[in-house]
Amino acid sequence: MKKSSPRLSYQSGFGNTFSSEAVRGALPVGQNSPQRTPKGLYPEVLSGTAFTAPRAENQSTWMYRLRPSAMHAAYKKMSHPTLASGPFDDAGAQPNRMRWDPFPLPSKATDFLDGLATLAGSGSPEAQAGIAVHLYRANRSMGKRVFWNADGEMMLVPQQGQLAIFSELGRLEVSPGEICVIPRGMRFKVELPDGAARGYACENYGAAFRLPELGPIGAQGLAQTRDFLAPVAAFEDEGGKHQVVSKYLGGLFAMELSHSPLDVVAWHGDYVPYKYDLARFMVINTVSFDHPDPSIFTVLTSPSGAPGVANCDFVIFPPRWMVAEHSFRPPWFHRNVMSELMGLVRGVYDAKAEGFTPGGVSLHNCMSAHGPDAASFDKATAAQLKPVKQEDTLAFMWESRWVFKPTRFAMQARERQKNYDAVWNGFRKNFPGKK
Ligand SMILES: [Fe+2]
Repeated sequence: MKKSSPRLSYQSGFGNTFSSEAVRGALPVGQNSPQRTPKGLYPEVLSGTAFTAPRAENQSTWMYRLRPSAMHAAYKKMSHPTLASGPFDDAGAQPNRMRWDPFPLPSKATDFLDGLATLAGSGSPEAQAGIAVHLYRANRSMGKRVFWNADGEMMLVPQQGQLAIFSELGRLEVSPGEICVIPRGMRFKVELPDGAARGYACENYGAAFRLPELGPIGAQGLAQTRDFLAPVAAFEDEGGKHQVVSKYLGGLFAMELSHSPLDVVAWHGDYVPYKYDLARFMVINTVSFDHPDPSIFTVLTSPSGAPGVANCDFVIFPPRWMVAEHSFRPPWFHRNVMSELMGLVRGVYDAKAEGFTPGGVSLHNCMSAHGPDAASFDKATAAQLKPVKQEDTLAFMWESRWVFKPTRFAMQARERQKNYDAVWNGFRKNFPGKK
């Protein structure tokens, strides 16, 4: 799999205030909007939080661009056959466990935006709470089409094919095994250097993702700030017709420009797109017995306001050693007040013998009973508990306090497994046990 090309450079850190210029001397020093900027660029600020948000939460970026973003005609409503937005009331919530096979790559020419399909979601952009889970499947680059999302930041989890993301602040290359987050409101387009691409997208209507607190773990562990990478400034000085598409309280709107809106020559700030290689995650787990809560695998969290209760946690199940003694090692049987939506980037997931394949999705909503299937249970209870390394695996979960409501698209999809409940058939009653 192609990894980040050496020709791209990045700035490292999470929550840092970065500064970057694609042309030497373009960035004003000591002042954000001088009467005349050094290269005649237009200063413009993108505020990701309210002006008066506490300093630790406050995020904004100053951009110095060829033309102000304000120079555009009215947006016109456009339609999208498979992109849905909260409130998700077309199919309703239900306590049933659900699972989907991977959705196929498109056969017609489809870019990242065309290929978005909404599987489930909660809350709404208007309430600024909840998330939407989309799949993307694309076979061509966005070209002169640029997207921005007023409704939420977007976390992309590639499963197949590299994404080359050209954002207002520069370029990010994101491969399977990595993730990226594009802030709310930031313009970007997706190019496909490897050809067809498929993956998962979380549109976060709530508070921006951030690193979880580490508590007694201490300063080291889980995802480290230095492994998050922001772009360096890069811009297009291109004429020709460019389409700019906005997602705005659930609707899609488009307008045309006669120049590229990705024309930021220099910038500074802390409201930035970023990427992260999940292989950099330092996995914490038991070295004695039992199975800690999966919160030990949290990469990023979007808080909801109630302490410890997430609007969305992004949790991964990466390659790791399993060493617990006299313990049931796979994920246990479970009913959870939080709702769990899982995807699989590669390999196998240790709670299921089959049926959950890379590109697939499972949904275990609030208080729905789930856990290992009978084959996995039998295997785990009979296994010799030597240290074992789980090598070929990369599953992830978006876990939320809000119930995921599947869309009609998801309910009617051919890929939905109609017999998922049968996974939990066949458990024998063992009590009172053998004499
Ligand atoms: Fe669970």
